[in-house]
Order: sequence, then C-alpha cells, then structure tokens
Amino acid sequence: MKILITGGAGYIGSITAKELEAKGYDVLVYDHFISHSPSKLGETPFIKGGLLDVKTLEKTLREFHPDVVMHFAAYIQMGESVTNPRKYYENNFLGTLSLVESMIKIGCHKLVFASTAGVYGNPVVIPIPEDHKKEPENPYGETKLAAERLLGWYDKAYGFKSISIRFFNAAGATPELGEDHHDESHIIPNIINAQLNNKEFVLFGNDYPTPDGTCVRDYIHVLDLAEAFRLAAEKLMTPEAVSTAYNAGTGHGYSNLEIVKMVEKVASDLAQIDPEHAEGLKIKIKFEPRRPGDANELIADSSRLQAELGWTPSHSDLESIVKSAYTYHSNLSR
Ligand SMILES: NC(=O)c1ccc[n+]([C@@H]2O[C@H](COP(=O)([O-])OP(=O)(O)OC[C@H]3O[C@@H](n4cnc5c(N)ncnc54)[C@H](O)[C@@H]3O)[C@@H](O)[C@H]2O)c1
Repeated sequence: MKILITGGAGYIGSITAKELEAKGYDVLVYDHFISHSPSKLGETPFIKGGLLDVKTLEKTLREFHPDVVMHFAAYIQMGESVTNPRKYYENNFLGTLSLVESMIKIGCHKLVFASTAGVYGNPVVIPIPEDHKKEPENPYGETKLAAERLLGWYDKAYGFKSISIRFFNAAGATPELGEDHHDESHIIPNIINAQLNNKEFVLFGNDYPTPDGTCVRDYIHVLDLAEAFRLAAEKLMTPEAVSTAYNAGTGHGYSNLEIVKMVEKVASDLAQIDPEHAEGLKIKIKFEPRRPGDANELIADSSRLQAELGWTPSHSDLESIVKSAYTYHSNLSR
C-alpha cells in the first residue's frame, strides 16, 4: 500500500513513517519543515511542501498517487491558538481543506486524520465516549473539530472516506525518534528535561478536584498511535469502510504528580540507585496557578477502536512510556 504522510517530519508522523516502512509499506513524507527539519527522516523519502502550496501538493499527489493519506501536519500549541487563532484556522482547517480538495482531484479518497481529545473540551462523562458533546476550549480543538466535520460532509458529497483518530496525550519514544517540539508544552518531555538539567519544573494548578489536586490525563505511546493509524488505513482499503472517528487512549488516567514520581523512579532505576537514596534525582517543582482551559480530567473510552479495528495499546503502560522517553532525552542531552 502507498501512503503519503503529511507532517511526517514531526514527532508522531516520523515514528509512524518508520513503523510503516518496517512493515513493508511504501511511504512518502510531505512536510514544510517549519516545525521540524528533515534530519530525522534518514532514508525515508520526502517532499518539501506546505498544505496551502497547492501546486507542490497536487504534483506530489499526482506523481506518488497514494492509496491512503495520513494527515498529521498541523500546528499544535493550544495556548498559541488562543492568541493567534488565524494561524490555526489557516493551517489546520484551510490546510485540511486544501489537502482534501487536492486528493479528490487526483482520485484518492481515503484519509486518516490526526484529531485530538481537545474536540471535547471539559468533559462531563469520564471515560469520554466518541459521542460525548463537543465544546472545544480553544481554536486548536475548534479547528480540528471543524476539519472532522468537513471530512463528514465530503463523504456525503463525494464518497470521500476518512477515519479521524482523536489522540489523548501522545507520549513515549523509540531509541532514535522522540518528542522535541520547539517551545515544548507537553508534560513528559518537560519533566524529564527539568530532571536531566537540574531545573525547576513548573506545574500549573494543584487545586483541581482530583485525588492529589493536579490534572489527570490519559497517556498513549506513540507506537500505539502509529499502529492505530496503520489499522485505520487498512480498514479504509476494504469495501465496507465507513467514515468515522475513534478515541485513542488507554482508559487510565495519571495525575501530573504521578508523572513526576514516575520520572523520578525511572531515573533512579536507570542509574541503579535505590529511590530512598536518590535525592539528586528528585525533581524540583514550582507550582503556578491553573492555566485557563485545562480540563480536570481527560480519559478516553477507546473500546470502539479496540472492538472495530482490533487495536490494543500494547506499549502504553506509564512506566514503559516514561522509560522510552527518558532514554531518548538522555541520549539527546549527551
Ligand atoms: N502530540 C500530541 O500529544 C497530540 C495530541 C493530539 C493530537 N495530535 C495531533 O497529531 C499531529 C502530529 O502531532 P506532533 O506532536 O507530531 O506535531 P509536530 O509539530 O511534531 O509535527 C507536525 C509536523 O507537521 C508539519 N506541518 C505543520 N503544518 C504544515 C503545513 N501547512 N504543511 C506541511 N507541513 C506542515 C510540521 O513541520 C511538523 O513536522 C498533529 O496534527 C496534532 O494536532 C498530537
């Protein structure tokens, strides 16, 4: 199967590309390399181009003629989307529109879309099922939801088939590839980097109505996300494929303080120091007030993804996630 991966130089796209290549898929990455350089891609073939650069996009699609497109390209900073909504409407919504239009022109009608738990906003039911009300708290979530809805209408109009995967918190790494966003906003790399560089970790909010007062999130290993994308692409190739959206998470939530404790445990295990005597590995926490829009608790009900696509989150126990990320970041900092 031929798969075009937009945003394939990024954290999740690059790991997905490598996983697919290892399984024998014919992969081409399409990325404008603004958020990431092509250096991580190694031997993986790529084209430099933006979603709104219709000429390069159409030429790439026409020449490669993918069976399925996996669409990861997006800007991902929720906070920035509040202060600069245009950037998000343009890139994440109009970029998706441009991609879908170009795909239809060359006769490719199958897309797996990287959506987000952010489409739900502050949930009233935990774990969150896919049919939960959707009230995004920021333009990032709003533009992802608008893109999902666009995909639904394009199915009705043109028989365009899509599967949206709503990730909860993507985390973890492979030995070669991991999470290193500019202005990193994700908690696991930030705690690990604070620990490795002996800096304070800023934790927003310790007065949430959760057992230890800090936010609770559902962490999913990037390798399990890559597998969800692969299964969705395979499903789209079958005649019975229908357009739909699935949650991808583990159904277990961990508080921010539990993540801090796990990073400390992994650091002491890897250094082979008894945690009782690992004072030097302890993370210094600086508590700051809650950030607007952070939900108390986000936990996925992924039973549909498991039942309908046969997906199992086999890499996503918290210790494996943190260990893989810690190993990746310690190698980077050497
Ligand atoms: N990381 C998470 O926890 C998480 C959670 C939910 C959803 N997602 C979604 O998964 C996707 C990938 O996330 P990530 O963490 O790998 O992000 P990332 O920033 O690491 O990668 C995104 C890639 O897309 C490229 N890109 C952005 N806009 C583009 C455009 N207009 N044209 C071409 N390339 C463009 C960037 O250069 C980058 O390489 C995103 O769509 C994001 O919304 C991520």
